[in-house]
Amino acid sequence: MGRIKVGVLASGRGSNLQAIIDAVGNKTLAADIAVVISDRADSFALTRARQHGVAAVHISAREYKGRRDEYDALLVQELKKFNVDLVVLAGFMRIVTGVLVRSYPHRIMNIHPALLPAFPGLHVQQAAIDHGVKFSGCTVHFVDEGMDTGPIVIQAVVPVLDNDTEDTLSARILKQEHTIFPRAIQLYAEGRLKVEGRRVVVTSGTNSGDGFLINP
Ligand code: GRF
Repeated sequence: MGRIKVGVLASGRGSNLQAIIDAVGNKTLAADIAVVISDRADSFALTRARQHGVAAVHISAREYKGRRDEYDALLVQELKKFNVDLVVLAGFMRIVTGVLVRSYPHRIMNIHPALLPAFPGLHVQQAAIDHGVKFSGCTVHFVDEGMDTGPIVIQAVVPVLDNDTEDTLSARILKQEHTIFPRAIQLYAEGRLKVEGRRVVVTSGTNSGDGFLINP
C-alpha cells in the first residue's frame, strides 16, 4: 500500500487527531488526512483540522435520534466523497452501526482508554481505579458491530497508582494513546496488519516476547 487517505471522526477536543496530524507532519506516519468529520459543531477537532488545511465537516446528529443507521449513511456518503482508505475514530462519542462498519470492513480503527476487553464503554478510567487494577492503558482496535469488541491492533500499559484520580490516570493513558494511535495507522499504511479471526497479526513484527511489567 502506498500513502493512504484517512478520514477522522471526532466529537471532542481532538488531542488524538492532533497526535495524528503531528505524526504526518514529522513523517513518522505516511498518510494523508483527507477529512475530519464531527457530530458536534463546537468540537475543537474541527478547529484543529481547519488550522492544518484539512477539510472539516460538521454533520449534526440532532435530527437523527433513534435513526442511527441514517446518520451513519451520511457519514459513509461523506467519507466516500473523500475516497478514504481508513476511518479513524478519535474520540467519536457515538456508537456506530453496521451501516458504517459494513462499508469499511476491518478499515475502521478506534482508540479506547482501557486495556480491552476489560472496561468497555464509558468512564473507564474511573472504573479501572474503582476496580483496583494495578495496570490499565489503552487499546487501538478494529471496529466491529459490537461495543469495543473488535480485533485488537496495539495496546499500551500504564500503572495505576494508589493516589490516582480519574484525571491523573486519564492523562497518563492519553499520553500513550498519542503514541500508539499514529503507530497503528502507520502499520496499516504499510499493509502489515492481517486480521485472523479475533487476532491481528503484525507481519514482520519485532516483538521479542521477554518483556514484563510489575506494579507495585
Ligand atoms: C480519548 O480518551 C479516547 O480514548 C476516547 O475519547 C478520548 C478522546 O480524546 N475514545 P481526544 O478528543 O482525542 O482528545
